[in-house]
Amino acid sequence: MMDDNQVTTRDMQDMDTHFIHPWEDVTAIGAEARTVITHGDGIYITDSDGNRMIDGPGGMWCVNVGYGREEIVEAVAAQMRELTYFSPWSVTASPAAILADRLATIAPGDLNNVFFTTGGSTAVDSALRFAFFYNNCLGRPEKKHIISRIGAYHGSTYLSASCSGKLPEKINMDMIEDRVHLLPKPNPAERPDGMPIEAFCTEKVADLENKILELGPDKVAAFIAEPVLASGGVIIPPDGYFKRCHEICKKYDVLFIADEVVTAFGRLGHYFASKDVFGVEPDMITTAKGLTSGYLPMGALLISDRLIADIKTTGNSAKYFSSGFTYSGHPVAAAAALANLDIFERDGLLGHVQKTAPYFEKCMKELADIPVVSEVRVNGLMAGVECCLDPDHPDEERDSGFLLEVDRICQENGLLLRPIYATAVMSPPLTITDTQIDDMTGILRQGLETALAR
Ligand SMILES: Cc1ncc(COP(=O)(O)O)c(C=O)c1O
Repeated sequence: MMDDNQVTTRDMQDMDTHFIHPWEDVTAIGAEARTVITHGDGIYITDSDGNRMIDGPGGMWCVNVGYGREEIVEAVAAQMRELTYFSPWSVTASPAAILADRLATIAPGDLNNVFFTTGGSTAVDSALRFAFFYNNCLGRPEKKHIISRIGAYHGSTYLSASCSGKLPEKINMDMIEDRVHLLPKPNPAERPDGMPIEAFCTEKVADLENKILELGPDKVAAFIAEPVLASGGVIIPPDGYFKRCHEICKKYDVLFIADEVVTAFGRLGHYFASKDVFGVEPDMITTAKGLTSGYLPMGALLISDRLIADIKTTGNSAKYFSSGFTYSGHPVAAAAALANLDIFERDGLLGHVQKTAPYFEKCMKELADIPVVSEVRVNGLMAGVECCLDPDHPDEERDSGFLLEVDRICQENGLLLRPIYATAVMSPPLTITDTQIDDMTGILRQGLETALAR
């Protein structure tokens, strides 16, 4: 075993050439020398050369309570000493049972049934498979089509990736095409000139209704949607859109799956945004990331009592949802999640986000005065800063390159960014203070202005 202290940054980057990272350009494996992160505390991360930076994307929208939380470390260590693993098939373990009960308590409406997964993709995959299973149990084997949206991101399993709508990412990747349908992106900025936002909302809701009618309501199993399209660039649909889509789904007996892998656990100031922010009680909610604040991998699918009850009324024969994972309800991950939730409660983190979000929004939106910034979108503690060097001749590749340069400059000045194409997405740990928001937006401004001046 190598002692980390003896290993140089260059050594680590060499070893890293064996690590195929997500979204890797396989023709360029090893060409990129990535920043090596070695330490985290609060909203900061430190690289292997000792440079301390604000973590703008909060890991991957996940380190909600911030880095270095001893309570979580202790809870995980204690659970590991007590019981490292249990088989979720035949027995149960107390952290998973306690967590399921706690999630049922904080989840909206009758979402009282928790199916644990290993992350967000497997939560989405399980939700879609449950929708198929549900319709099979109810004797409706034809009701299997799924509706999603362009710009959505739902994960990296075959099924969840097929329901994702980031079109450039489908190149060279096989997708399920006969059952998945993508609606146009509900991005208000892309509405035709002069179209009022309410009319745009009506049009996007009509897209859903028309697609259901085109396919036939008896063929459509589910509509899956992130309340805010996160990796799609923090696209915030018009007010009322989510709720009206839910009403359309109810009208046609189509399951409404809210993908809250990003928006749950405080990102928008509530445990779940569906009900508290958007007024919707979905049939299923998928979640992960902030559930453990990224301390350990875990996801959860929440299923409504109504769906379970419907299956129970289909007769006396057993109906097995033959799906699950070796690590479903892993006791150590569950212990991390419970300690994470304890921090939310003890530190009043939801209230902190509600209090801080308006200042975050103000500071982020002020960046719009930089000529290259074409739009700033903010909801809760998530933001997308979209850049366009030449609005008359938009070129996503050129603008993506510009943001990579901004990221390089920001890293030198103490801020890690996450450019997604031409948008820098920001989702810092929820503990961020007003002063830290000033620091973060100050460095970002300097990075944008410096790159623009080059
Ligand atoms: C909305 C949404 N759903 C699902 C996923 C997939 O989650 P995971 O990467 O944990 O599998 C993500 C990941 O970013 C996401 O943003």
